[in-house]
Amino acid sequence: MNTSLNKIGSQSLSFIESEDPEVHAAIVAEQTRQQEGLEMIASENFTSPAVMQAVGSVLTNKYAEGYPGHRYYGGCEFVDTVEDLARERLKRLFGAEHVNVQPHSGSQANAAVYMTAIAPGDTVLAFDLAHGGHLTHGMKLNASGVLYKFVHYGVRRDDHRLDFDQIASLAREHKPKLIVAGASAYPREIPHGKFAEIAREVGAKLMVDMAHYAGLVAAGIHDNPVPVADFVTSTTHKTLRGPRGGIAMCRAENAKLLDRSVFPGQQGGPLMHVIAGKAVAFAEALRPEFKAYAKQVVANARSLAEALAAGGVKLVSGGTDNHLMLVDVTPLGIGGKLAEETLDRCGITCNKNMIPYDERKPMDPSGIRLGTPALTTRGMGSDEMKRIAAWILRALKSPGDAAVVETTRREVAELAEQFPVPAAKLEEAVAG
Ligand SMILES: Cc1ncc(COP(=O)(O)O)c(C=O)c1O
Repeated sequence: MNTSLNKIGSQSLSFIESEDPEVHAAIVAEQTRQQEGLEMIASENFTSPAVMQAVGSVLTNKYAEGYPGHRYYGGCEFVDTVEDLARERLKRLFGAEHVNVQPHSGSQANAAVYMTAIAPGDTVLAFDLAHGGHLTHGMKLNASGVLYKFVHYGVRRDDHRLDFDQIASLAREHKPKLIVAGASAYPREIPHGKFAEIAREVGAKLMVDMAHYAGLVAAGIHDNPVPVADFVTSTTHKTLRGPRGGIAMCRAENAKLLDRSVFPGQQGGPLMHVIAGKAVAFAEALRPEFKAYAKQVVANARSLAEALAAGGVKLVSGGTDNHLMLVDVTPLGIGGKLAEETLDRCGITCNKNMIPYDERKPMDPSGIRLGTPALTTRGMGSDEMKRIAAWILRALKSPGDAAVVETTRREVAELAEQFPVPAAKLEEAVAG
């Protein structure tokens, strides 16, 4: 373990260190893991020191049920300012008529939209989890699948692209009240206009869950769903690079209902410290540097994907348009579980993932999902992606070879050291 990092970590965490050494030790260990490894989980990122300070601020002490100007508690004048800043910045970022920044997570943003747009028992058409969808898009154990009647569309078998013929024909057959677009593991740009056309034809409302690619939309790289969708939801912690949390947006006509569905419909008091972190992150995303960042995320994904494909693995849909890729590792004679474990031992963190039409089981599927948002935040570019692709291929071609794991782990640590995580800068500032 990097002792200098430990020392630095203990400076800003000194209260936790003396009050609760066990939690302190775990936080420092996690901080070291983040600094010394390569984070390639597509849904993760590193927030800025400013976002972390907002989330660690005194705003965590405040109850503020309700909305700015209409709270159920006194003393809300300053948190009102924070929430208004977050709302105004978010509106500007995506050109939305109405926004709600209170959802505690992406899942709660989705639940609030369902509560606004449909009633229990109604039919919803959404992307199949096994093809790249999300739990909250109707998985049978999730509240969405329990409360509503979900029908699922998928991707074509031959090119792994969304099958709009199938989506239109399912919509005509099942007459859903709501169509959901958006995905957790789809490596291509989603054409929201095509969904809007189908929704209009069958009289359904359209919800776009852009949790994964909101940062690419904010930067103007991917199509903005706000003009064509009735509701748009997102997480704030993936490509958008904010604190863990959710947001929901809609047209002015649905504003009251949506707000009522978030509070008191789904939640109690908002997490005002997290809303402050969202406000800071939205201001960051409005700056030109964020556009450059998001462009590099996509360029890095392309470099990584090309180098991996040239090395003998198969990519779902043949490549990527966004921040992630799904890699079928079975041509190397292994499954996703062993691939994830092997890379983990090398200091490269990713997740095993089903690929469309997978014949293997979810706990040991055919693929892994890799993403570039976190590495790009550290300042890595195309050259680093090519080196990382070579390490991934070498490790996956000899998963049982301890010497390969050891060499790769050392090379990973050397590269990681050259690209400090934002938290290290915060620690240095506090220490210095
Ligand atoms: C498409 C999509 N929607 C919603 C969510 C849920 O977000 P959270 O984990 O914040 O509840 C995720 C998270 O992975 C996601 O990928």
